[in-house]
Amino acid sequence: MTVTRVGVLISGRGSNLAALLDAAALPDAPYTIVAVISNRAGAAGLVCAREASRVAVYAVERAGVASRAAQQAEMARLLRAHGVEVVVTAGFDQILGPAFVDAYPERILNIHPSLLPAFAGTLRAQEEALAAGVKVSGCTAHLVTAEVDAGPIVAQAAVPVRDDDTVATLSARILAEEHRLLPHAMRLLATGQVRVEGRRAVIIAPPPHPPAHG
Ligand code: GRF
Repeated sequence: MTVTRVGVLISGRGSNLAALLDAAALPDAPYTIVAVISNRAGAAGLVCAREASRVAVYAVERAGVASRAAQQAEMARLLRAHGVEVVVTAGFDQILGPAFVDAYPERILNIHPSLLPAFAGTLRAQEEALAAGVKVSGCTAHLVTAEVDAGPIVAQAAVPVRDDDTVATLSARILAEEHRLLPHAMRLLATGQVRVEGRRAVIIAPPPHPPAHG
């Protein structure tokens, strides 16, 4: 089995990163987390990244580099240095510029806390869902393209929105689904089950295992 080398970009708490690290530690995991980069040195998620074995951990802050593009170029350089094949943005609060997106075509996976295309392009998707009065929300794992939150959808999970929900209760219900969905979507990518057809990602059967020898 080939194991896909994954780099994760974070900005904060890192609970989705923790879910991915747990999933990658399972014996049959088709991917391994080799690098974690935060754009904030104080991100809580860096703590769990540093506790994981064999994960290179970096903070690449905007301060000290000439531009956002230069910051992301440094992130791409580090990821390449670790042989990263797939990048996951898990609570990463920067928009990735075209140079970074072009460096990993159809190979950047994002988790967003709404059922896209609803509540795209916002860091307050749960609050906006409540304000809109929707009865169902959820989360989306999608490929990153130049257009924010608009890339091919790999997987989604829905949750009910209750009349007495607060941003905190709805966010917690969605987050529990994110922790299942992101490792699932990562597995689909790593096993070659995601085929992009225009704006859509089509999920195909896993390729057959090579015949066993002996
Ligand atoms: C998650 O809700 C994610 O969907 C959104 O930001 C939050 C990050 O949480 N993009 P965590 O840092 O993974 O705990």
